[in-house]
Amino acid sequence: MSGTIVLAYSGGLDTSVAIRWLAERHDADVVTVTADLGQGKDVAAIRERALRIGARDALVVDARDMFVRYFVFPALQAGALYEGQYPLATALARPLIAYLLVEAAHRHGAQAVAHGCTGKGNDQVRFDLAVQTLDPELRVEAPMRQWSMTRDQEMAYARERGIEIPVTPAKPYSVDANLWGRSIEAGVLEDPALEPPEDVYEWTAAVEAAPADAATVRVGFASGIPVSLDGERLDGRSLIERLNELAGRHGVGRVDHVENRLVGIKSREIYEAPAAVVLHQAHAALETLTLTRDAFRFKQAVAAEYAELIYNGKWFSALHQDLMAFVQSNQRFVTGEVTLKLHRGTCRVVGRQSPFSLYSRALATYETGDAFDHSAAVGFIRLYGLGTVQQARVQTLPLRDQLPELPPPPRPEGEG
Ligand code: ARG
Repeated sequence: MSGTIVLAYSGGLDTSVAIRWLAERHDADVVTVTADLGQGKDVAAIRERALRIGARDALVVDARDMFVRYFVFPALQAGALYEGQYPLATALARPLIAYLLVEAAHRHGAQAVAHGCTGKGNDQVRFDLAVQTLDPELRVEAPMRQWSMTRDQEMAYARERGIEIPVTPAKPYSVDANLWGRSIEAGVLEDPALEPPEDVYEWTAAVEAAPADAATVRVGFASGIPVSLDGERLDGRSLIERLNELAGRHGVGRVDHVENRLVGIKSREIYEAPAAVVLHQAHAALETLTLTRDAFRFKQAVAAEYAELIYNGKWFSALHQDLMAFVQSNQRFVTGEVTLKLHRGTCRVVGRQSPFSLYSRALATYETGDAFDHSAAVGFIRLYGLGTVQQARVQTLPLRDQLPELPPPPRPEGEG
């Protein structure tokens, strides 16, 4: 068939080969889309490369602010950490790239979009699903899932067609990066028993190399969104960039995670996400001050659900809109400042304050000025425990001899 295919293009070998492979295989024009999400690559050079290889057009989109505003900060407000650890940098970028692909496909009258994901990962699911939910009429091509070329065959394919192969000796890792974090997998990392070699890290200092003196930073939030550092108001992107630099210098932000992929594989992933780690910690600390106990508990359940949804590629779903509506409402009073100390790989909250703080010193204090009504505690406990005490009276006490015996408490080694 002929027509136009819009390809998500990173500038690497796989998607470079894909430009020609798609064009030849489908007799199609290939239009590439490269999104700048803060991955620190020269997108203008990537565009030139796409055109040299034979793309009919090569689009570059500076999507950094869009990424922060519509993807990163909502996920931070939601407290979305996959399996409690991974701040989801890659997973959050996919729906945005898919959105840009679909938009470009519509503008160029394309019948298909394409991406360079393999058949083993989560990213193919995220791309395919996002595209299908945005426009079910579009076909999704994934050359890496279809061609059965080995790395050597791929290089030969590239050489035959004059596609430059990156000369820099590639590190034996698979890396994905954007301003919310860097992900490194494969190579020696595939043995989860082994400590990652220092060369996997680019954004964070080793504990041993980090400054001996701690740094203190104060993060300001408005309704759950970070707005300032040490009292200086900053746009989201600058704030993240600064924190990546500062926390990274102090060795903060390394995550070593054996994670459960959607496709059933466990994989060992290394993440570097200095700003994300600091901001999630700061944000959670502010919530301890500003959310009621009920809201805090319910929010934790929503956070876990939200993280799953992002990780599993269901960004463009009604459930996401529903959860988002809750989170936006829930975050109304999450405003204030959190102080953190960064020191040799650790990040600790050391202070928090909010105009909407529910913390009352008068209620909490053990010193003079205590406003807590101690006499109310007795009545409270009576009603609070009424059901449990009634159960003891009727069931557990009278029947204690007939109830199955509890296992004996464990004894320390070498005793009796
Ligand atoms: N495991 C992460 C995720 O599923 C990152 C995937 C991409 N990382 C990479 N190094 N290629 O979101």
